[in-house]
Amino acid sequence: MVVSLETHSNTMTVIKKVAIFGASGNFGTPITSALVSAGFDVTIITRIESLSTFPPGIAIIKSEYTVERLTAALRGQDAAICVVGPAGNSTQEVMIDAAEAAGVERFIVNDFGWGPNFRSLPEFQQIGAQRRIAWERARELAEANPRFTYTGITIGNPIDWAIRRFPAMGFDIERRSAVIYDAGSEEFTGTTLEGIGQAVVGVLTHPDATANRFVKARSIQTNQNQLLDAFQRATGQAWEIRRESVKDRLESGRKKHEEGNGGWILDLLVYQLYEPGAARCIVAPGDDPDVELLEMREETPDDIVGKVLNAAASGDEK
Ligand SMILES: NC(=O)c1ccc[n+]([C@@H]2O[C@H](COP(=O)([O-])OP(=O)(O)OC[C@H]3O[C@@H](n4cnc5c(N)ncnc54)[C@H](OP(=O)(O)O)[C@@H]3O)[C@@H](O)[C@H]2O)c1
Repeated sequence: MVVSLETHSNTMTVIKKVAIFGASGNFGTPITSALVSAGFDVTIITRIESLSTFPPGIAIIKSEYTVERLTAALRGQDAAICVVGPAGNSTQEVMIDAAEAAGVERFIVNDFGWGPNFRSLPEFQQIGAQRRIAWERARELAEANPRFTYTGITIGNPIDWAIRRFPAMGFDIERRSAVIYDAGSEEFTGTTLEGIGQAVVGVLTHPDATANRFVKARSIQTNQNQLLDAFQRATGQAWEIRRESVKDRLESGRKKHEEGNGGWILDLLVYQLYEPGAARCIVAPGDDPDVELLEMREETPDDIVGKVLNAAASGDEK
């Protein structure tokens, strides 16, 4: 695939060569596969000490994560994507500095979450501030060097992956049982693994319109009741249903946080997702123009449930 990009000097540039950090991760795997399918020339950059495995046929560079080494690794690339796990987030500034020094034109920063304007609970402020350091670095470099640009991709809830991975979202696939929080009607937007891959491809195929900002991705806007109906249709059986108030999650999450215990993040994420009437997690509403720009496929609750059940049946790693 060859994509034209008008630069500030009006010369045509091409985004063809794309480097990715975190290629074997939860989201890096579908992103890498989408990039290869779309015809990009992909290079995986990975840590010297990494034990990650990668699909055959893709160039791999093992590197120390220093500005000097990564500048050498990134030279000749048109774009770079950071999709490392939370433990690697602090290495992102080095990647960004190296990308700019190497002449990379687009850096996709590590969001794949809730974006810069999300109304999160105060307990998440520290995590959010840590993530913003690198975003700010990308913004500063893009301001200073018009040939360097960045994009963040906000996906909201990674819906098919998250439902399967976290039964606390309300659906226990093995037991065919559900916890419905309050009325079960709180809407949120979600992006599937397929949608996350498409969002990255969409940014790189629309470089002008996505430069120097965060874009919003969405595969679906839905709620628990719609998903439960779809699960019952797909499995042909009535699921056991328990009702809870999501306020209990808020209380237990806050208590765990105060006492320094684990598990608070999931409790508070579930609260943020389903807080009645808050519409907190509608990150890409129906009329958001980015969804069309990125050529995202609108999916249905039946599509989502089909993906979750297929992944469970094939024993894919969560
Ligand atoms: N919206 C949501 O609810 C949601 C959910 C999950 C994740 N996310 C976000 O999505 C992004 C990717 O998360 P993920 O779950 O896909 O990641 P992941 O699977 O946990 O990790 C991906 C890769 O990160 C690299 N990595 C791990 N530790 C590192 C370190 N200390 N230094 C440098 N690299 C390291 C590894 O690559 P190598 O071994 O190749 O070096 C690893 O395979 C993150 O920003 C995460 O916060 C959002």
